[in-house]
Amino acid sequence: MSDKEKLTVTSFAKMKQAGTKIVMVTAYDYAMGRAVSQTDVDIILVGDSLGMVVLGYETTVQVTMADMISHTAATRRGAPDTFIIGDMPFMSYHDVTSAKLNAAALIVEGGANAVKLEGGSPSRIEAVKAIVDCEIPVCGHIGLTPQSVHRFGGYKVQGKSVKAHDDLIQQARLLEEAGAFMLVLEGIPELLGKEITKAVSIPTIGIGAGRHTDGQVLVWHDMLGMNPNVAKFVKVYGELGAQTVHALSEYVNDVREGSFPAETQVYYPIKIREGSE
Ligand code: KIV
Repeated sequence: MSDKEKLTVTSFAKMKQAGTKIVMVTAYDYAMGRAVSQTDVDIILVGDSLGMVVLGYETTVQVTMADMISHTAATRRGAPDTFIIGDMPFMSYHDVTSAKLNAAALIVEGGANAVKLEGGSPSRIEAVKAIVDCEIPVCGHIGLTPQSVHRFGGYKVQGKSVKAHDDLIQQARLLEEAGAFMLVLEGIPELLGKEITKAVSIPTIGIGAGRHTDGQVLVWHDMLGMNPNVAKFVKVYGELGAQTVHALSEYVNDVREGSFPAETQVYYPIKIREGSE
């Protein structure tokens, strides 16, 4: 156990009040969880983005509850003390009974502290209420919700018209009233990110939502240089993709030329005497 303070839903409410920015990053397995737990990142999101960046699907809609439970549990094993939000995959919360059972599975089997679901329509609001009623904290997610990719006709910035802008502010308010403890705002104009952040008392976490949200989230592969095609809002903090290819190529060379394994990498090395073969 580390000596870091364990964060809870109330910590994030206090951070908003104090104006302390909240830092969230996605992670999907044990090694990633271990890396995050050695930093001051506040929240891990085991996002269904894993469908695209880990499993190689074209969208997130193929991701299953089994995928989410397995990856959330692996991440938890790597980050035992970090606040983890488990993402609810497509169609896992679209009726109230499924919503409650699947949210509970992410908490009980996956070891998450909270769950996230996309959208602010009346049925999503009902799902949030039902999950919160089971004592499970819920993070809402509005704007460019990736599970809506087919309805949106692509990954397009949302909330640009006056009506769409006002609708998203209304959805944020309804999600707060339904009991959500946090909102992810994705792919919206900066002004709307600022207005939603002012309109609700729960923290907002932006991804492509400008500079005025209460915190930020980035996808692991985007921010660490493992995705060659990143969106405008991404800042790349490392080049792990290129470093990995470079390291693998050096390994190939070493094996081919016989310099790996060297004597230091061998058990009971055979002593080669001068003059002998
Ligand atoms: O699945 C995910 O990683 C997400 C983030 C993009 C917010 O929902």
